[in-house]
Amino acid sequence: MLARDLLQALADGEPVSGAALARHAGVTRAAVWKQIEALRLKGVPVDAKVGGGYRLPWPIQLLDAPRVRQRLPAAASSALGMLEVHWELDSTSSELARRNPVLDDLAFVLAETQSAGRGRRGRAWLSPPGMNLYLSVLKRFDAGFASLSGLSLAVGVMLIRALDDLGIRTAGLKWPNDVLAGNAKLAGILVELSGEYSGPCAAVIGVGLNIRLPDSVHERAGQPVTDIAELTGGSPPDRNRVAASVVAALTEGLLAFERHGFAAFVDEYASHDLLLGKPLRILDPRGEYEAVGEGVDGRGALRVRRADGTAITVDSAEVSVRRSGVA
Ligand code: ATP
Ligand code: BTN
Repeated sequence: MLARDLLQALADGEPVSGAALARHAGVTRAAVWKQIEALRLKGVPVDAKVGGGYRLPWPIQLLDAPRVRQRLPAAASSALGMLEVHWELDSTSSELARRNPVLDDLAFVLAETQSAGRGRRGRAWLSPPGMNLYLSVLKRFDAGFASLSGLSLAVGVMLIRALDDLGIRTAGLKWPNDVLAGNAKLAGILVELSGEYSGPCAAVIGVGLNIRLPDSVHERAGQPVTDIAELTGGSPPDRNRVAASVVAALTEGLLAFERHGFAAFVDEYASHDLLLGKPLRILDPRGEYEAVGEGVDGRGALRVRRADGTAITVDSAEVSVRRSGVA
């Protein structure tokens, strides 16, 4: 029995006995138990009741490529290079990077779980199966890296549009790559570039969006994290619907970015900028300092002002920003 089949058998949230699961899959109860343990190790909180079988604490929907495609607007659907759903990958972004040479533009890869999900600067992205969204898209550009400034901020705006499409209007953007709700991280964006500095190049854009986090992620993330379930009073939309909103927003947004660059997103970024006017701590490897956020410039760099009045533009990938007094 595969872990995916087991999760599918438990998907409606009703209890199912080990014997029924074993019968259904044609395996022993010991084989079922082994897969239950494997799911638990990956962060799925499978409950076991004495004599009551196994159950998930809430119903889930597994991702299904045709269902995601069905929900896409026609323009996005025809622009899409590919849409694949995998059970497990090391990282959806690593998968696209490996296959980059043979893939069409706007190829999307989604995975139910990642064994080595990555954040910025080698940090881990916790990726339990069946609950969140882990996806990456390959976008090719002709004009070189210089034309891509502001791309990760623009992707943040695209995610805000996707959330808006799902009726969620309480999220904001923290420079350079986080989507937060309240003080907690709802989604992360990882943009990785390859190709020529001033010629054809490609971006692999990875998005992790939390739909329903198990307690283990809250405990292990090391910072406040949140999910769509929390923002929708415990009833998140179907995961395939969430995936379709994100795929549509990224497809349409990346085509707009290709034509107009960050200029097409700068005003919307400003209206969701959580750092604007806020006291910040800038963690620069060359020295930390306090400043106040003054928005972003036309290239997507963060503008801040120190207490002595000095204006600074922050655009290094090595810099982290913390809101003062916020974890
Ligand atoms: P920075 O401001 O430097 O980007 P960051 O703390 O947001 O800082 P990232 O590298 O952007 O760091 O994101 C990785 C971090 O995100 C991890 O170190 C962890 O704290 C957190 N994290 C990991 N998995 C998840 C998840 N599923 N949901 C939310 N946050 C997560
Ligand atoms: C961050 O906040 O640092 C970025 C997190 C990006 C996580 C996503 S999940 C899908 C894709 N695959 C990865 O390994 N990382 C990105």
